[in-house]
Amino acid sequence: MELKIAALSDIEDVLALHYTYQVDSIAPEDKADGFVTTPFTAAQLSALIEQEQGLFIARQQGQVVGYIMAASWQFWSAWPMFAYMIQDLPKLQYRGHTLSIDNSYQYGPVCLDKRVRGSGVLEDLFAFALQQMARRYPVLVTFVNKNNPRSYAAHTRKVGLEVIAEFEYNNNHYYEMACLTQR
Ligand SMILES: CC(C)(COP(=O)(O)OP(=O)(O)OC[C@H]1O[C@@H](n2cnc3c(N)ncnc32)[C@H](O)[C@@H]1OP(=O)(O)O)[C@@H](O)C(=O)NCCC(=O)NCCS
Repeated sequence: MELKIAALSDIEDVLALHYTYQVDSIAPEDKADGFVTTPFTAAQLSALIEQEQGLFIARQQGQVVGYIMAASWQFWSAWPMFAYMIQDLPKLQYRGHTLSIDNSYQYGPVCLDKRVRGSGVLEDLFAFALQQMARRYPVLVTFVNKNNPRSYAAHTRKVGLEVIAEFEYNNNHYYEMACLTQR
């Protein structure tokens, strides 16, 4: 298993994985194990790589089998739901930090090929991405849709995220979660 910060040359493979599990194109039988929502473009992933160094991937036998995205709130603010989350950040406390766009970043989406789920790839890729982001931020913040119980279980039990709030946006219900980047 190779873990790395993605380069522009990795984008095509990341998008192939992404659209296998994206809500509009996922096979119906795969949906119960979670799906990703945002229809990312190659241009958006280029910006994520070039501006944020915020795309982390796992390759196995040459194939991209997992990715994690992570970036500043400024980067994500182009998407309305993140603009909504940013407004509420200063109301949230986590382990001594009053959250802000300066002391936290947004982790996710994350997606693993179903062939490697449950095998520890999430833990390894998460730790790798966390280590990189720890250089810039003390707190990771993310959200998990309440209709994605597998992601909730994995993030609370496997990688130690803690629920800091619950919110509703566009008729979806979410847990907001956090962890410190220094462990
Ligand atoms: C979410 C995801 C990254 C988690 O990684 P993973 O390797 O599947 O996680 P794991 O299998 O190690 O852990 C998930 C746990 O939830 C359990 N689980 C599976 N389905 C579940 C369900 N419907 N309800 C509750 N728990 C469930 C698993 O049994 C496992 O626990 P266990 O190891 O104690 O048995 C991966 O499933 C994935 O990429 N899914 C598709 C995309 C997605 O949903 N991304 C997150 C939204 S951004």
